[in-house]
Amino acid sequence: MTAETVSTTRGPAAPGTRKRILTGDRPTAKSFHLGNYYGTLANRVRLQDEYESFFLIADYHMLTTRIQDLEEIGANIRELVIDYLSVGIDPVKTTIYLQSLIPEVTELFLYFSMLVTVPRAQRIPTLKEAMRDHGLSAPTYGLLGYPILQAADILMVKGDVVPVGRDQESHIELTREIARRFNELFGPVFPEPQALIPEGGMLPGTDGAGKMGKSLGNAIFLTDDTQAVTTKVMGMYTDPTRVRATDPGNVEGNPVFALHDVFNPDTADVDDMKDRYRSGRIGDVEVKRKLVVAIEAFLVPIRERRARYAAEPERIDEIIRAGSERARDEARRTLHEVRAAMHLDYFGL
Ligand code: TRP
Repeated sequence: MTAETVSTTRGPAAPGTRKRILTGDRPTAKSFHLGNYYGTLANRVRLQDEYESFFLIADYHMLTTRIQDLEEIGANIRELVIDYLSVGIDPVKTTIYLQSLIPEVTELFLYFSMLVTVPRAQRIPTLKEAMRDHGLSAPTYGLLGYPILQAADILMVKGDVVPVGRDQESHIELTREIARRFNELFGPVFPEPQALIPEGGMLPGTDGAGKMGKSLGNAIFLTDDTQAVTTKVMGMYTDPTRVRATDPGNVEGNPVFALHDVFNPDTADVDDMKDRYRSGRIGDVEVKRKLVVAIEAFLVPIRERRARYAAEPERIDEIIRAGSERARDEARRTLHEVRAAMHLDYFGL
């Protein structure tokens, strides 16, 4: 896999000529890992050429599970934007914006909250997961509203396509219901957005125990340096039944090969290693060393871009400011239509 370089030479297509994508991330953790890249970032980089793209940084959503220790969030937001830019999200093609700079979204959220019953919101499966993960015996009103707020994000810019992970599917389904309900009651204002969920399986973690996860201690981060990558890869779980390099080994279910498949562009060499692994003619150490080389080749340009952007915090702030202004224009337009459709534009005010 390669991350594309950030170009600033091409402007966006004329508004209205392309379908729109909208997606977002909460500014909770500091960095993406290879699993996030494979699962969603690579897709988003590709899509920005085809679609008019909006990426929001969902700081309101973050508040649903974190209402304290907020002083570091500003730094997290900048890091998130740097992550986007370093993998090839182009701020000329993609509007990157901060949710809390678009107060219109809270107004739309309020209207939408009249269209969703409490039991419907309680049935959304991510609610129980969030309660479990955060040790909550009862959800706050705000947490219950999480997917309704997400619907407001999406419909605010009239997104057609929403690239998200499978865990978010139920939120997009609710968004479609809200759009349908609103249109039935007040006339055709909103599209019914589609979720775009990655086809490929999940990238396993370095421990071989399922998926790579931010807080599972099994992730290789985009911000990891050469030393960290080497230590993590050389310590990876492989085929536990294989004791010597001359034993026949299993390629299937072996996370070292799963990562080769995604990150090593030399497919002929990967096939050759697989053959030799199966017949006991290559050691784990050699397969891992080559994986270090492949991951490093992928990460070096990302690190270089990250370092360049990190040295220019004013530029990052400007990208957020300009993107948020652009998104807010959209939001104002949509809200105007919504209030007119609902006859909330009393006396033309
Ligand atoms: N709920 C999403 C997540 O945690 C973040 C998000 C907020 C989002 N608003 C969105 C994603 C709108 C897609 C569209 O991953």
